[in-house]
Amino acid sequence: MQRIGASPSRIPVMNSTSVSRRQLLAGTAATAVIAGFPSLLLAQGNTAKLKIGLIGCGGRGTGAAEQALNADPNVVLWAVGDAFPESIQSSLNGLKSFGAKVDVPAERQFSGLDAYQKVLESGVDVVLLAAPPGFRPQHLRAAVEAGKHVFSEKPMAVDVAGVKSVMESAKLAKQKGVAIQHGYCWRFAPGVRELYGKITSGELGRVHSVYGTYMGSPPKPLQPGMTKPDGMADVEWQLRWWNNFEWTSGGPLLEQAVHTVDKIAWSMGDAAPIAAVANGGRAIRTDAGNVYDHYNIAYEYPGGVICHLGERQFPGCHTEVVDRIYCEKGTAVAPNTPMVLGPDGKRSWMYRAPAGMEQNMYQVCHNEFFASLRKGEIINTGEYMANSTMLGLLGREAAHTGQRVTWDQMWAAGQDHAPDTLKMGDSFAIAPVPVPGVHKLA
Ligand SMILES: NC(=O)c1ccc[n+]([C@@H]2O[C@H](COP(=O)([O-])OP(=O)(O)OC[C@H]3O[C@@H](n4cnc5c(N)ncnc54)[C@H](O)[C@@H]3O)[C@@H](O)[C@H]2O)c1
Repeated sequence: MQRIGASPSRIPVMNSTSVSRRQLLAGTAATAVIAGFPSLLLAQGNTAKLKIGLIGCGGRGTGAAEQALNADPNVVLWAVGDAFPESIQSSLNGLKSFGAKVDVPAERQFSGLDAYQKVLESGVDVVLLAAPPGFRPQHLRAAVEAGKHVFSEKPMAVDVAGVKSVMESAKLAKQKGVAIQHGYCWRFAPGVRELYGKITSGELGRVHSVYGTYMGSPPKPLQPGMTKPDGMADVEWQLRWWNNFEWTSGGPLLEQAVHTVDKIAWSMGDAAPIAAVANGGRAIRTDAGNVYDHYNIAYEYPGGVICHLGERQFPGCHTEVVDRIYCEKGTAVAPNTPMVLGPDGKRSWMYRAPAGMEQNMYQVCHNEFFASLRKGEIINTGEYMANSTMLGLLGREAAHTGQRVTWDQMWAAGQDHAPDTLKMGDSFAIAPVPVPGVHKLA
């Protein structure tokens, strides 16, 4: 196993291209200066008003809009789109305190499954993608094709075809000089960054193993016995309860615990894994949805390193989100109160926030995004986001199939949960809950 922090060219990396993820991320951090492509920002000048479009006006979308509006003095929320008009109203109500920075008259409020296209056509410069992840590949592709800079929430997709589409969009974005900023928010938390810097720089020596958890309750669960109301189409009902269906959410591992998946990737220097062995199932859930409620995954990395992830959404149980990265020279513990425990188990380092430094990871993300746009630089984290999403899918599919699934098998698969052409009024049968030993990776 290569020491984390070793030469990027010798580390197998999480994509099929010859460019290593380490190199990619280094390029990302430094960003590329816009050259040769039409850039709204360069064309308008560095302080020009930036018009923001929000696609997906739920809790996180509204939060992202808030952070974008706080990030820069000359931005305006210009257009919003959501599957349902009531989400739009609730989001705009929540943003009232921004006054004139929210300039979204009725004619720039779009609802329906084509709302994203209308937002993109409304004259926006930057879009915030925060619809359910099943739609992300489609929304990202359209945004990049339209030449809009993108902030995208995680995860990037719910199936293999979606991840591959995101990879293509990331490449297209590079060609077009379009930015993609990611929503794996822990990578922006200053203390977590400092801690992980000690791992990825090699300061803590070789990584022996990782133990990560994401244990909480299910967000917006269907209750047992709840069924689709008479007269409502399948697609509409499943969208209203999107967290409960795999084609819309990817299930809890992708939708929520992908943060811990991403931190496993981070602690391993974003190197490619070999395979995963996992189990999971529906221990508690009896509702009409088809997502699991728990997973336990062992990701296998070169050099015999095993990264374990435990995820569950059980109400009324102990909750925690913890990362423990066991290294040669100590154990890194995150994300709350980032610290290092020495070989004797005693704390040898703890993060102390410098006075005045922004600590809200969501805000840091947007501050850096808008600052880079103002500098005429292009952040493009699309490939990295796709890879971390694929790492989540690897764990999920190992559990769903009950097989040891390799990274290469994932990239060779064609799994595609739903067509892009679904309409709100369409019928769409709920796929059966995957049974390990029976379910196959398509
Ligand atoms: N980074 C984080 O910490 C974090 C936290 C929460 C959620 N998220 C992510 O943000 C995304 C949204 O989650 P949320 O908690 O805001 O959910 P939410 O249910 O509150 O909001 C989702 C919104 O998208 C709308 N929508 C559904 N289908 C749509 C479509 N095709 N086009 C446009 N809008 C559509 C819904 O009506 C809803 O208003 C998810 O990907 C989730 O994983 C990230």
